[in-house]
Amino acid sequence: MKWNFIEPEINEINRKEYQPASYIRKSIMINRPVRQATLFMTALGVYDGYFNGKRLDEQLLRPGFTNYRARLQYQTHDVTDQVRAGENVIGAVVGDGWYRGTLGPDEDRNFYGEYLKLAAVLQITYEDGEEEYLTDSSWRATQDGPIRNNDLKVWEIVDMRREMQGWNDVGFDDSTWHNCKESSYDGILIPQEGAPLIEQEEMAPKIIKTPNGEQILDFGQNHTGHVKFTVSGAAGTTVELHMGECIDEAGNFTLSNLQSAGSKKKIEIQQVKYTLKEGTQTYKSRFLICGYRYVKLVNWPEKLKTENFTSIAIYSDFDKTGNFSCSNEEINKLFSNVCWSMKSNFAEIPTDCPQRERAGWTGDINVFAETANYLGKVDDFLVKWLHDFVTLQLSDGNLPYVVPPIPMGTVSNGSAGWSDAIAGVPMELYRFYGDKKILEQVYDTIKAFVEFNRKRAKKKHIRHCLKSGSHYQYILDTGYHFGEWMEPGKSLLKEGLLGLMAPDEEVATAWWYYSTWQLTQMAEVLGKDKDAKEYKKLAEQIKEAYNQEFLSDGIKNSDRQCKYVRPLYMELVEGKKAQEIASKLNKMCIAKDYVIGTGFLTTYKLLPTLCDYGYVDTAYKILENPKCPGWLYEVNSGATTIWENWIGIDEKSAPVNSHNHYAAGSVVAWLFAYCGGIRPVTPGFEKIQIKPIPGGSLTWANTSYESIKGRLVSNWKLENGHFYLHVEVPEGVETEVVLPDGSIEVIWGGIKEYHLTNWQGIYSSVH
Ligand code: BGC
Repeated sequence: MKWNFIEPEINEINRKEYQPASYIRKSIMINRPVRQATLFMTALGVYDGYFNGKRLDEQLLRPGFTNYRARLQYQTHDVTDQVRAGENVIGAVVGDGWYRGTLGPDEDRNFYGEYLKLAAVLQITYEDGEEEYLTDSSWRATQDGPIRNNDLKVWEIVDMRREMQGWNDVGFDDSTWHNCKESSYDGILIPQEGAPLIEQEEMAPKIIKTPNGEQILDFGQNHTGHVKFTVSGAAGTTVELHMGECIDEAGNFTLSNLQSAGSKKKIEIQQVKYTLKEGTQTYKSRFLICGYRYVKLVNWPEKLKTENFTSIAIYSDFDKTGNFSCSNEEINKLFSNVCWSMKSNFAEIPTDCPQRERAGWTGDINVFAETANYLGKVDDFLVKWLHDFVTLQLSDGNLPYVVPPIPMGTVSNGSAGWSDAIAGVPMELYRFYGDKKILEQVYDTIKAFVEFNRKRAKKKHIRHCLKSGSHYQYILDTGYHFGEWMEPGKSLLKEGLLGLMAPDEEVATAWWYYSTWQLTQMAEVLGKDKDAKEYKKLAEQIKEAYNQEFLSDGIKNSDRQCKYVRPLYMELVEGKKAQEIASKLNKMCIAKDYVIGTGFLTTYKLLPTLCDYGYVDTAYKILENPKCPGWLYEVNSGATTIWENWIGIDEKSAPVNSHNHYAAGSVVAWLFAYCGGIRPVTPGFEKIQIKPIPGGSLTWANTSYESIKGRLVSNWKLENGHFYLHVEVPEGVETEVVLPDGSIEVIWGGIKEYHLTNWQGIYSSVH
């Protein structure tokens, strides 16, 4: 299929400035009866497409976000029912989106290109069987429509007095519009791979009057979306909607928590500025989506009525697969907060947060992938993102830490725990879906990255140039690594600088080991025996060096929980030594009164590790601990999503950093796999284990998961010293049911009830 790209903006404009949206149309004559008509469309920018005045479908911000330098998705629409004899019109509104809009933490624009482009092909099969592809460059365009400025993150400025009725249909006079310019695209065009971004839940607001007299709408739930509003007033009046997550210490609307670390600049993002036409009108932003709970209204021309506002959540469509509820309402709220952080950050790509950076930070999804797989059927979504990841490998094997790239993320630093998502995310997908295809697709990239690390481990950081010992060639201390990241009490800025000056070689070496070990697993699955042997050997060498350097005289920096959790869950340490380290970790957690001490890279494994070594009681006490840092501290502070920083609200009650980062929400995987005990034993749930682990204050917990083999249920309750378990598993699937007293039964599907009498609440640590 031949694509003809066009550029709708022909007049010279200052590309650094925000631009109006382009309205583009093309008329096509069809003179014979049509059997089938299919419209293929894409853009560099984001587009809303129409055929004979009708919007193509419900998808938002098409064609979606990919590494546009390599790959561009197109959409396919069946327009057979809309085709008319004679003139037909294809229309599109095109905005800046990820291609040209603000990307990342700062105000960088035009990252992928300065010129918006559009391409469409109409494939017609006539009744007589002849087939034709209609595509050329004869499009008409204008930038004089109602969207005066548009940006995905900063704002949408609209003047509805410029509305152009019927512009996308037959009969519109486009004589004042101009011809578009022929253009081209160098990357690969691919049919849409990921789930479409669509409107989802709707929310109604409450009205709040703040101490400084502002009028604010509170939608009660932090989320990603846009606000649909109805307003009437004098034509020419401009109203403003400002979207934010937080209320400040004085009770006023604020965006201060979204300030980038170190920046003093006034933050101006997430705004709709709307100039009214005559009469009553309803609007919702087309090319701006925001992360918010609150909306500050400016210059509202009439009395506020809640029924005039609806917030519509927006996220990439996925089937919800997992559910959890228990006797502790605060944990239930935590579960809900994690679900909302996932929804908020599953917008075309897995992002860190939906307001400040909105970027595909690889470390965040690396630690959250297991939770994401329990909560939703997200394989298409993640596979599409991994395909972009693969395109970004440099010739020396180095990998980026943000995918697709954003201005600051163009540098590939092979950052430990972040770039390693290239192995971690596919491994989780394989565990949940058992499909080898994704492993095949990423295999060479991981292998080249492991080799890249082998080469750079040989170079030494200036701090260590005098170190000797043959094991040192397996200690990785160069490159830029974020380290544990967001450990309690550490600041974003300081941690960033530290990563630059003195990267943490313990973290870097451990992750190099982990990816090498995962590569070995993949080689085995894919039948690459030579590689499996070779990388097993390398993994052993790194492990040995790690033990020699970091574990020979106990653990250095031993007041940090991450230093204990990491070698344990990565199985960098074994046997008695592992037991000792686990016991120290347990004691440390007790001494800290069960507040969390881990950051991004080990929080997701803190509770699993404690449970794996038999410290179930400690795990539950950390989970249910109401103090800061702790998951329930966030819940009790009124959080409706998961915070980026454990101290999301400071001692003066001021909000700190993003309130919508899912990384620490990775505890939900523990709720499924340990509290409810639903786990795949072999990839794709071919073999299942149900091993519930009751504990803490919980008197019951209901866990369910729609696996690709079918529905799995594990509902347990404690009553008068008795333990009851209700299990549901698909017919014909081998399932090992492990009860808390250590007894095991293998079943092959069906509904089963279990009962332990005189159960004292002492969990038997059967692995
Ligand atoms: C992002 C994180 C990200 C990190 C890198 C932050 O600014 O919001 O979630 O992973 O940078 O360490």
